[in-house]
Amino acid sequence: MPSDAALNQFLDFLRFGSISTDSKYKEQVLACADWLKIKLNTIGLKATMHETPGHPIIVAHGPQKKGRPTVLIYGHYDVQPVDPLDLWHRPPFNPGIEHGIVTARGVSDNKGQIFAHILGIEQTMKEKSDLPVNLIMLIEGEEEIGSPSLAPFLDAQRDALACDVVVISDSSMIAPGHPTFTYGLRGLAAVEVTVHGPDHDLHSGIFGGAVENPATVLARLIAGLHDKNLKVKIDGFYEGVKSLAPWERKAWKRLPLKEPELLRMTGAPALRGEKGYSPLERMWARPTAEVNGIGGGYQGEGTKTVLPSKAMAKFTFRLVPGQDPAKISELVLSYFHDNAPPSVRLDIVPGHWGEPYLVDPNAGFGLAAQKALGKLFPGRKPALIREGGSIPIVADFKSILNADTLLLGFALPDCNAHSPNETFPLSHLDLGANLNRSVLEEIAAAS
Ligand code: BES
Ligand code: MN
Repeated sequence: MPSDAALNQFLDFLRFGSISTDSKYKEQVLACADWLKIKLNTIGLKATMHETPGHPIIVAHGPQKKGRPTVLIYGHYDVQPVDPLDLWHRPPFNPGIEHGIVTARGVSDNKGQIFAHILGIEQTMKEKSDLPVNLIMLIEGEEEIGSPSLAPFLDAQRDALACDVVVISDSSMIAPGHPTFTYGLRGLAAVEVTVHGPDHDLHSGIFGGAVENPATVLARLIAGLHDKNLKVKIDGFYEGVKSLAPWERKAWKRLPLKEPELLRMTGAPALRGEKGYSPLERMWARPTAEVNGIGGGYQGEGTKTVLPSKAMAKFTFRLVPGQDPAKISELVLSYFHDNAPPSVRLDIVPGHWGEPYLVDPNAGFGLAAQKALGKLFPGRKPALIREGGSIPIVADFKSILNADTLLLGFALPDCNAHSPNETFPLSHLDLGANLNRSVLEEIAAAS
Protein backbone atom coordinates (compact mmCIF):
# COMPACT_ATOMS: atom_id res chain seq x y z
CA MET A 1 0.00 0.00 0.00
CA PRO A 2 1.23 3.51 -0.72
CA SER A 3 1.95 5.64 2.35
CA ASP A 4 -0.74 8.08 3.54
CA ALA A 5 1.39 10.95 2.30
CA ALA A 6 1.78 9.40 -1.16
CA LEU A 7 -1.93 8.64 -1.33
CA ASN A 8 -2.92 12.17 -0.35
CA GLN A 9 -0.62 13.60 -2.98
CA PHE A 10 -2.09 11.28 -5.55
CA LEU A 11 -5.59 12.48 -4.69
CA ASP A 12 -4.40 16.10 -4.97
CA PHE A 13 -3.03 15.34 -8.44
CA LEU A 14 -6.42 13.92 -9.45
CA ARG A 15 -8.28 17.00 -8.21
CA PHE A 16 -6.97 19.19 -11.03
CA GLY A 17 -9.49 19.39 -13.84
CA SER A 18 -6.71 19.28 -16.43
CA ILE A 19 -8.93 18.92 -19.52
CA SER A 20 -6.68 20.01 -22.38
CA THR A 21 -9.28 20.34 -25.10
CA ASP A 22 -11.56 22.81 -23.29
CA SER A 23 -10.23 26.35 -22.83
CA LYS A 24 -12.44 26.83 -19.74
CA TYR A 25 -10.00 24.54 -17.94
CA LYS A 26 -6.80 26.34 -18.96
CA GLU A 27 -6.07 27.60 -15.44
CA GLN A 28 -6.50 24.14 -13.96
CA VAL A 29 -4.22 22.61 -16.58
CA LEU A 30 -1.56 25.17 -15.66
CA ALA A 31 -2.04 24.60 -11.92
CA CYS A 32 -1.63 20.86 -12.46
CA ALA A 33 1.62 21.39 -14.38
CA ASP A 34 2.91 23.62 -11.61
CA TRP A 35 2.02 21.03 -8.97
CA LEU A 36 3.92 18.36 -10.93
CA LYS A 37 7.00 20.52 -11.27
CA ILE A 38 7.07 21.06 -7.51
CA LYS A 39 6.54 17.35 -6.82
CA LEU A 40 9.39 16.33 -9.14
CA ASN A 41 11.71 18.88 -7.57
CA THR A 42 10.84 17.60 -4.10
CA ILE A 43 11.91 14.04 -4.89
CA GLY A 44 15.38 15.14 -5.99
CA LEU A 45 14.97 15.72 -9.71
CA LYS A 46 15.62 19.06 -11.40
CA ALA A 47 12.32 19.99 -12.94
CA THR A 48 11.42 22.91 -15.16
CA MET A 49 8.20 24.06 -16.73
CA HIS A 50 8.28 25.01 -20.41
CA GLU A 51 5.63 27.31 -21.84
CA THR A 52 4.27 26.36 -25.25
CA PRO A 53 1.63 27.91 -27.52
CA GLY A 54 -0.70 25.45 -25.77
CA HIS A 55 -0.25 23.83 -22.37
CA PRO A 56 3.08 23.63 -20.51
CA ILE A 57 5.53 20.75 -20.72
CA ILE A 58 7.37 19.57 -17.61
CA VAL A 59 10.90 18.23 -18.00
CA ALA A 60 12.88 16.80 -15.10
CA HIS A 61 16.37 15.36 -14.97
CA GLY A 62 17.77 12.91 -12.43
CA PRO A 63 21.45 12.73 -11.48
CA GLN A 64 23.45 12.45 -14.71
CA LYS A 65 26.60 10.31 -14.81
CA LYS A 66 28.85 9.33 -17.68
CA GLY A 67 28.76 5.81 -19.05
CA ARG A 68 25.21 4.80 -18.31
CA PRO A 69 22.14 4.80 -20.54
CA THR A 70 19.69 7.66 -20.64
CA VAL A 71 16.04 6.71 -20.21
CA LEU A 72 13.24 9.12 -20.98
CA ILE A 73 10.00 8.40 -19.14
CA TYR A 74 7.06 10.08 -20.87
CA GLY A 75 3.55 10.65 -19.58
CA HIS A 76 0.72 13.16 -19.75
CA TYR A 77 -1.10 15.11 -17.06
CA ASP A 78 -3.98 16.23 -19.28
CA VAL A 79 -7.25 14.33 -19.33
CA GLN A 80 -10.29 13.88 -21.56
CA PRO A 81 -13.57 15.78 -21.03
CA VAL A 82 -15.96 14.37 -18.43
CA ASP A 83 -19.33 14.46 -20.14
CA PRO A 84 -21.88 12.91 -19.79
CA LEU A 85 -21.54 14.13 -16.22
CA ASP A 86 -24.79 12.62 -14.95
CA LEU A 87 -23.45 9.09 -15.48
CA TRP A 88 -20.63 9.56 -12.97
CA HIS A 89 -21.17 8.00 -9.53
CA ARG A 90 -19.13 10.83 -8.02
CA PRO A 91 -17.75 14.15 -9.27
CA PRO A 92 -14.93 13.34 -11.72
CA PHE A 93 -12.42 15.64 -10.03
CA ASN A 94 -13.34 14.67 -6.48
CA PRO A 95 -11.58 11.31 -6.30
CA GLY A 96 -12.79 8.58 -3.98
CA ILE A 97 -11.62 5.08 -3.07
CA GLU A 98 -13.99 2.15 -2.69
CA HIS A 99 -12.84 -1.47 -2.24
CA GLY A 100 -9.32 -0.47 -3.27
CA ILE A 101 -10.46 1.15 -6.52
CA VAL A 102 -9.87 4.86 -7.15
CA THR A 103 -12.43 6.65 -9.33
CA ALA A 104 -11.62 9.97 -11.05
CA ARG A 105 -11.17 11.37 -14.55
CA GLY A 106 -7.64 10.62 -15.70
CA VAL A 107 -6.86 8.18 -12.89
CA SER A 108 -5.74 5.47 -15.33
CA ASP A 109 -5.15 7.67 -18.38
CA ASN A 110 -2.59 8.80 -17.38
CA LYS A 111 -2.25 10.26 -13.88
CA GLY A 112 -2.14 6.97 -11.93
CA GLN A 113 0.44 5.44 -14.21
CA ILE A 114 2.76 8.45 -14.31
CA PHE A 115 2.38 9.02 -10.55
CA ALA A 116 3.38 5.38 -9.91
CA HIS A 117 6.60 6.02 -11.85
CA ILE A 118 7.19 9.13 -9.74
CA LEU A 119 6.73 7.03 -6.58
CA GLY A 120 9.25 4.47 -7.84
CA ILE A 121 11.79 7.21 -8.52
CA GLU A 122 11.08 8.81 -5.17
CA GLN A 123 11.77 5.50 -3.39
CA THR A 124 15.04 4.88 -5.25
CA MET A 125 16.21 8.45 -4.69
CA LYS A 126 15.43 8.16 -0.97
CA GLU A 127 17.41 4.94 -0.65
CA LYS A 128 20.37 5.74 -2.90
CA SER A 129 20.29 9.46 -3.74
CA ASP A 130 20.78 8.20 -7.28
CA LEU A 131 19.11 6.16 -10.01
CA PRO A 132 20.56 3.27 -12.04
CA VAL A 133 20.32 5.29 -15.27
CA ASN A 134 20.41 8.90 -16.42
CA LEU A 135 16.76 9.80 -16.18
CA ILE A 136 14.69 12.36 -18.05
CA MET A 137 11.01 12.74 -17.23
CA LEU A 138 8.86 14.44 -19.83
CA ILE A 139 5.25 15.04 -18.86
CA GLU A 140 3.04 16.99 -21.22
CA GLY A 141 -0.42 18.52 -21.10
CA GLU A 142 -1.62 18.02 -24.68
CA GLU A 143 -1.55 14.25 -25.29
CA GLU A 144 -5.32 14.04 -25.44
CA ILE A 145 -5.41 16.64 -28.21
CA GLY A 146 -2.69 15.08 -30.35
CA SER A 147 0.43 16.67 -28.75
CA PRO A 148 0.59 19.71 -31.09
CA SER A 149 3.33 21.48 -29.09
CA LEU A 150 5.47 18.48 -28.23
CA ALA A 151 7.03 17.56 -31.59
CA PRO A 152 8.36 21.13 -32.12
CA PHE A 153 9.61 21.02 -28.53
CA LEU A 154 11.46 17.72 -29.13
CA ASP A 155 12.98 19.24 -32.22
CA ALA A 156 14.15 22.38 -30.40
CA GLN A 157 15.44 20.42 -27.38
CA ARG A 158 17.04 17.49 -29.22
CA ASP A 159 20.23 17.75 -27.19
CA ALA A 160 18.68 18.17 -23.75
CA LEU A 161 16.31 15.28 -24.48
CA ALA A 162 18.77 12.90 -26.19
CA CYS A 163 18.15 9.41 -24.85
CA ASP A 164 18.73 5.72 -25.54
CA VAL A 165 15.18 4.55 -24.96
CA VAL A 166 11.75 5.88 -24.00
CA VAL A 167 9.53 4.22 -21.39
CA ILE A 168 5.79 4.91 -21.41
CA SER A 169 3.09 3.55 -19.16
CA ASP A 170 -0.03 4.83 -20.91
CA SER A 171 -1.53 1.56 -22.12
CA SER A 172 -3.17 -1.49 -20.54
CA MET A 173 -2.45 -4.91 -19.11
CA ILE A 174 -4.58 -7.53 -20.81
CA ALA A 175 -5.89 -8.74 -17.43
CA PRO A 176 -5.19 -8.14 -13.72
CA GLY A 177 -1.91 -9.78 -12.76
CA HIS A 178 -0.95 -10.49 -16.38
CA PRO A 179 2.33 -8.75 -17.30
CA THR A 180 1.96 -7.08 -20.67
CA PHE A 181 4.41 -5.62 -23.15
CA THR A 182 2.90 -3.56 -25.96
CA TYR A 183 4.94 -3.40 -29.15
CA GLY A 184 2.48 -1.61 -31.44
CA LEU A 185 -0.12 1.14 -31.43
CA ARG A 186 -2.56 2.37 -34.03
CA GLY A 187 -2.28 5.86 -35.42
CA LEU A 188 -5.20 8.11 -36.27
CA ALA A 189 -6.54 10.89 -38.44
CA ALA A 190 -9.40 13.09 -37.23
CA VAL A 191 -11.85 15.07 -39.34
CA GLU A 192 -15.03 17.02 -38.68
CA VAL A 193 -17.66 17.23 -41.39
CA THR A 194 -20.57 19.68 -41.51
CA VAL A 195 -23.23 19.23 -44.15
CA HIS A 196 -25.00 22.51 -44.96
CA GLY A 197 -28.39 22.65 -46.72
CA PRO A 198 -30.84 25.57 -46.54
CA ASP A 199 -29.40 28.69 -44.91
CA HIS A 200 -31.80 28.42 -41.94
CA ASP A 201 -33.96 25.73 -40.35
CA LEU A 202 -37.13 25.30 -42.42
CA HIS A 203 -40.68 24.18 -41.69
CA SER A 204 -40.45 20.52 -42.72
CA GLY A 205 -44.08 20.51 -43.83
CA ILE A 206 -43.80 23.57 -46.02
CA PHE A 207 -40.47 22.76 -47.67
CA GLY A 208 -39.84 19.07 -46.92
CA GLY A 209 -39.59 17.02 -50.09
CA ALA A 210 -38.23 19.80 -52.27
CA VAL A 211 -35.22 20.90 -50.21
CA GLU A 212 -32.38 18.59 -49.20
CA ASN A 213 -32.19 17.36 -45.62
CA PRO A 214 -28.54 17.63 -44.46
CA ALA A 215 -29.08 15.04 -41.72
CA THR A 216 -30.17 12.48 -44.31
CA VAL A 217 -27.15 13.26 -46.50
CA LEU A 218 -24.80 12.93 -43.54
CA ALA A 219 -26.37 9.61 -42.56
CA ARG A 220 -25.91 8.34 -46.11
CA LEU A 221 -22.26 9.46 -46.17
CA ILE A 222 -21.62 7.72 -42.87
CA ALA A 223 -23.37 4.55 -43.94
CA GLY A 224 -21.30 4.51 -47.14
CA LEU A 225 -18.05 4.30 -45.19
CA HIS A 226 -18.33 0.50 -44.77
CA ASP A 227 -19.19 -2.36 -47.07
CA LYS A 228 -21.17 -5.42 -46.01
CA ASN A 229 -18.05 -7.13 -44.67
CA LEU A 230 -17.31 -4.03 -42.59
CA LYS A 231 -14.29 -3.07 -44.64
CA VAL A 232 -13.77 0.67 -45.02
CA LYS A 233 -15.07 1.64 -48.46
CA ILE A 234 -12.75 4.56 -49.24
CA ASP A 235 -10.63 4.23 -52.37
CA GLY A 236 -7.00 3.51 -51.48
CA PHE A 237 -7.67 3.20 -47.74
CA TYR A 238 -5.95 -0.18 -47.39
CA GLU A 239 -3.04 0.60 -49.69
CA GLY A 240 0.24 -0.38 -48.01
CA VAL A 241 -1.43 -1.84 -44.90
CA LYS A 242 0.99 -4.24 -43.25
CA SER A 243 -0.49 -7.68 -42.66
CA LEU A 244 -0.46 -9.34 -39.28
CA ALA A 245 2.50 -11.68 -38.80
CA PRO A 246 1.53 -15.35 -38.41
CA TRP A 247 3.18 -15.47 -34.95
CA GLU A 248 0.98 -12.60 -33.75
CA ARG A 249 -2.25 -14.22 -34.88
CA LYS A 250 -1.19 -17.43 -33.14
CA ALA A 251 -0.05 -15.76 -29.89
CA TRP A 252 -3.11 -13.51 -29.61
CA LYS A 253 -5.42 -16.52 -29.92
CA ARG A 254 -4.08 -17.74 -26.59
CA LEU A 255 -4.64 -14.48 -24.69
CA PRO A 256 -7.31 -14.45 -21.96
CA LEU A 257 -9.19 -11.65 -23.69
CA LYS A 258 -11.97 -13.33 -25.58
CA GLU A 259 -15.51 -12.59 -26.63
CA PRO A 260 -17.12 -13.04 -23.16
CA GLU A 261 -14.63 -10.64 -21.51
CA LEU A 262 -15.10 -8.11 -24.29
CA LEU A 263 -18.88 -8.34 -23.99
CA ARG A 264 -18.68 -7.88 -20.22
CA MET A 265 -16.29 -4.93 -20.49
CA THR A 266 -18.24 -3.10 -23.14
CA GLY A 267 -21.81 -3.98 -22.26
CA ALA A 268 -22.46 -4.36 -25.99
CA PRO A 269 -25.18 -6.87 -26.99
CA ALA A 270 -22.83 -8.56 -29.47
CA LEU A 271 -19.45 -8.05 -31.13
CA ARG A 272 -19.04 -7.36 -34.82
CA GLY A 273 -16.26 -6.28 -37.15
CA GLU A 274 -14.30 -6.74 -40.31
CA LYS A 275 -14.76 -10.18 -41.84
CA GLY A 276 -11.79 -12.51 -41.59
CA TYR A 277 -10.32 -11.14 -38.37
CA SER A 278 -10.71 -11.90 -34.65
CA PRO A 279 -11.84 -9.16 -32.26
CA LEU A 280 -8.28 -8.58 -30.98
CA GLU A 281 -6.94 -8.41 -34.53
CA ARG A 282 -9.66 -5.92 -35.44
CA MET A 283 -8.85 -3.74 -32.41
CA TRP A 284 -5.07 -3.87 -32.54
CA ALA A 285 -3.96 -4.37 -36.11
CA ARG A 286 -6.71 -3.34 -38.52
CA PRO A 287 -7.67 0.20 -39.54
CA THR A 288 -11.14 1.55 -38.84
CA ALA A 289 -13.51 4.44 -39.54
CA GLU A 290 -15.37 5.63 -36.43
CA VAL A 291 -17.96 8.32 -35.81
CA ASN A 292 -17.10 9.95 -32.47
CA GLY A 293 -20.03 12.35 -32.36
CA ILE A 294 -23.00 13.29 -34.47
CA GLY A 295 -25.55 16.06 -34.33
CA GLY A 296 -28.05 18.18 -36.19
CA GLY A 297 -31.68 19.17 -35.98
CA TYR A 298 -33.92 19.29 -32.95
CA GLN A 299 -32.61 17.42 -29.87
CA GLY A 300 -34.93 18.80 -27.18
CA GLU A 301 -38.01 17.34 -25.52
CA GLY A 302 -41.01 16.46 -27.66
CA THR A 303 -41.18 17.15 -31.36
CA LYS A 304 -40.33 20.02 -33.65
CA THR A 305 -41.13 19.65 -37.33
CA VAL A 306 -38.02 21.13 -38.76
CA LEU A 307 -35.78 20.55 -41.74
CA PRO A 308 -32.38 21.31 -40.19
CA SER A 309 -30.10 23.71 -42.01
CA LYS A 310 -27.06 21.60 -41.13
CA ALA A 311 -25.79 18.38 -39.60
CA MET A 312 -22.33 17.48 -38.43
CA ALA A 313 -20.23 14.51 -37.38
CA LYS A 314 -16.78 14.07 -35.91
CA PHE A 315 -14.73 11.16 -37.24
CA THR A 316 -11.49 9.43 -36.39
CA PHE A 317 -9.83 6.88 -38.60
CA ARG A 318 -7.55 4.49 -36.70
CA LEU A 319 -4.54 3.62 -38.78
CA VAL A 320 -2.07 0.75 -38.80
CA PRO A 321 1.54 0.41 -39.93
CA GLY A 322 1.85 1.12 -43.64
CA GLN A 323 -0.79 3.87 -43.63
CA ASP A 324 0.19 7.53 -43.75
CA PRO A 325 -2.16 9.84 -41.79
CA ALA A 326 -1.66 12.77 -44.20
CA LYS A 327 -2.53 10.61 -47.19
CA ILE A 328 -5.52 9.06 -45.42
CA SER A 329 -6.79 12.57 -44.60
CA GLU A 330 -6.74 13.39 -48.30
CA LEU A 331 -8.55 10.18 -49.24
CA VAL A 332 -11.18 10.91 -46.60
CA LEU A 333 -11.69 14.44 -47.91
CA SER A 334 -12.14 13.11 -51.44
CA TYR A 335 -14.60 10.49 -50.21
CA PHE A 336 -16.87 13.15 -48.72
CA HIS A 337 -16.56 15.56 -51.65
CA ASP A 338 -17.10 12.86 -54.28
CA ASN A 339 -20.13 11.40 -52.57
CA ALA A 340 -22.05 14.51 -51.49
CA PRO A 341 -24.93 15.56 -53.78
CA PRO A 342 -25.02 19.09 -55.29
CA SER A 343 -27.97 19.90 -52.99
CA VAL A 344 -25.58 20.42 -50.04
CA ARG A 345 -22.37 22.28 -49.28
CA LEU A 346 -19.68 20.55 -47.22
CA ASP A 347 -17.45 22.10 -44.63
CA ILE A 348 -14.60 19.75 -43.76
CA VAL A 349 -12.08 20.52 -41.06
CA PRO A 350 -9.19 18.07 -40.67
CA GLY A 351 -8.16 17.55 -37.04
CA HIS A 352 -5.10 16.12 -35.32
CA TRP A 353 -3.39 13.04 -36.56
CA GLY A 354 -0.74 10.59 -35.39
CA GLU A 355 1.32 7.86 -36.96
CA PRO A 356 1.01 4.19 -36.05
CA TYR A 357 3.88 2.47 -34.23
CA LEU A 358 5.33 -1.03 -34.44
CA VAL A 359 8.60 -2.47 -33.17
CA ASP A 360 10.13 -5.90 -32.75
CA PRO A 361 9.37 -6.78 -29.10
CA ASN A 362 12.63 -8.69 -28.83
CA ALA A 363 14.92 -6.01 -30.26
CA GLY A 364 16.73 -3.14 -28.53
CA PHE A 365 15.75 -2.93 -24.86
CA GLY A 366 12.66 -5.08 -25.51
CA LEU A 367 14.12 -8.10 -23.77
CA ALA A 368 15.19 -5.98 -20.78
CA ALA A 369 11.60 -4.76 -20.50
CA GLN A 370 10.26 -8.31 -20.67
CA LYS A 371 12.74 -9.36 -17.99
CA ALA A 372 11.64 -6.48 -15.75
CA LEU A 373 8.01 -7.55 -16.14
CA GLY A 374 8.94 -11.17 -15.45
CA LYS A 375 10.52 -10.14 -12.15
CA LEU A 376 7.35 -8.40 -11.05
CA PHE A 377 5.20 -11.39 -11.85
CA PRO A 378 7.41 -14.40 -11.16
CA GLY A 379 6.63 -17.39 -13.29
CA ARG A 380 4.44 -15.51 -15.78
CA LYS A 381 5.55 -14.81 -19.31
CA PRO A 382 4.64 -11.28 -20.42
CA ALA A 383 1.89 -11.10 -23.03
CA LEU A 384 3.21 -9.47 -26.20
CA ILE A 385 0.45 -7.37 -27.66
CA ARG A 386 -0.38 -4.39 -29.80
CA GLU A 387 -3.11 -1.96 -28.80
CA GLY A 388 -5.70 -0.01 -30.67
CA GLY A 389 -5.20 3.34 -28.95
CA SER A 390 -2.78 5.99 -30.16
CA ILE A 391 0.09 7.89 -28.60
CA PRO A 392 1.12 10.05 -31.56
CA ILE A 393 4.34 11.33 -30.02
CA VAL A 394 5.85 7.81 -29.96
CA ALA A 395 6.57 8.05 -33.71
CA ASP A 396 8.28 11.42 -33.10
CA PHE A 397 10.48 9.95 -30.37
CA LYS A 398 11.76 7.65 -33.09
CA SER A 399 12.06 10.19 -35.89
CA ILE A 400 13.38 13.13 -33.83
CA LEU A 401 15.29 11.49 -30.95
CA ASN A 402 15.96 8.19 -32.75
CA ALA A 403 14.75 6.32 -29.67
CA ASP A 404 12.49 3.27 -29.52
CA THR A 405 9.71 3.18 -26.96
CA LEU A 406 8.93 0.48 -24.41
CA LEU A 407 5.19 0.56 -23.78
CA LEU A 408 4.70 -0.84 -20.30
CA GLY A 409 1.18 0.12 -19.33
CA PHE A 410 -0.62 -1.20 -16.30
CA ALA A 411 -4.13 0.23 -16.61
CA LEU A 412 -6.83 -2.42 -16.73
CA PRO A 413 -8.77 -2.85 -19.97
CA ASP A 414 -12.08 -2.16 -18.19
CA CYS A 415 -10.81 1.05 -16.52
CA ASN A 416 -13.35 3.26 -18.38
CA ALA A 417 -10.72 5.50 -19.93
CA HIS A 418 -12.43 8.40 -21.77
CA SER A 419 -15.75 7.25 -20.22
CA PRO A 420 -17.67 8.07 -17.05
CA ASN A 421 -16.34 6.47 -13.83
CA GLU A 422 -12.73 5.98 -14.87
CA THR A 423 -10.98 3.70 -12.36
CA PHE A 424 -7.53 2.52 -11.30
CA PRO A 425 -6.73 -0.08 -8.61
CA LEU A 426 -4.90 1.56 -5.71
CA SER A 427 -2.58 -1.48 -5.64
CA HIS A 428 -1.35 -0.52 -9.10
CA LEU A 429 0.47 2.47 -7.61
CA ASP A 430 2.82 -0.01 -5.93
CA LEU A 431 2.83 -2.21 -9.01
CA GLY A 432 3.89 0.74 -11.16
CA ALA A 433 6.49 1.92 -8.65
CA ASN A 434 8.02 -1.58 -8.64
CA LEU A 435 7.86 -1.71 -12.42
CA ASN A 436 9.70 1.61 -12.57
CA ARG A 437 12.46 0.30 -10.33
CA SER A 438 12.79 -3.00 -12.10
CA VAL A 439 12.75 -1.60 -15.63
CA LEU A 440 15.40 1.03 -14.87
CA GLU A 441 17.58 -1.66 -13.31
CA GLU A 442 17.17 -4.04 -16.25
CA ILE A 443 17.92 -1.30 -18.78
CA ALA A 444 21.07 -0.40 -16.83
CA ALA A 445 22.06 -4.07 -16.68
CA ALA A 446 21.48 -4.56 -20.42
CA SER A 447 23.78 -1.77 -21.53
N1 BES B 1 -3.47 6.21 -23.24
C1 BES B 1 -4.15 6.50 -24.44
C2 BES B 1 -3.74 5.65 -25.61
C3 BES B 1 -3.89 4.18 -25.40
C4 BES B 1 -5.03 3.66 -24.87
C5 BES B 1 -2.86 3.36 -25.75
C6 BES B 1 -5.14 2.31 -24.67
C7 BES B 1 -2.97 2.00 -25.58
C8 BES B 1 -4.13 1.49 -25.03
C9 BES B 1 -3.97 7.96 -24.81
O1 BES B 1 -4.07 8.82 -23.71
C10 BES B 1 -5.09 8.34 -25.73
O2 BES B 1 -6.21 8.23 -25.37
N2 BES B 1 -4.75 8.80 -26.91
C11 BES B 1 -5.70 9.30 -27.83
C12 BES B 1 -4.91 10.04 -28.86
C13 BES B 1 -5.62 11.11 -29.60
C14 BES B 1 -6.51 11.97 -28.80
C15 BES B 1 -4.64 11.91 -30.42
C16 BES B 1 -6.50 8.19 -28.48
O3 BES B 1 -6.00 7.08 -28.67
O4 BES B 1 -7.68 8.41 -28.76
MN1 MN C 1 -6.34 8.98 -23.35
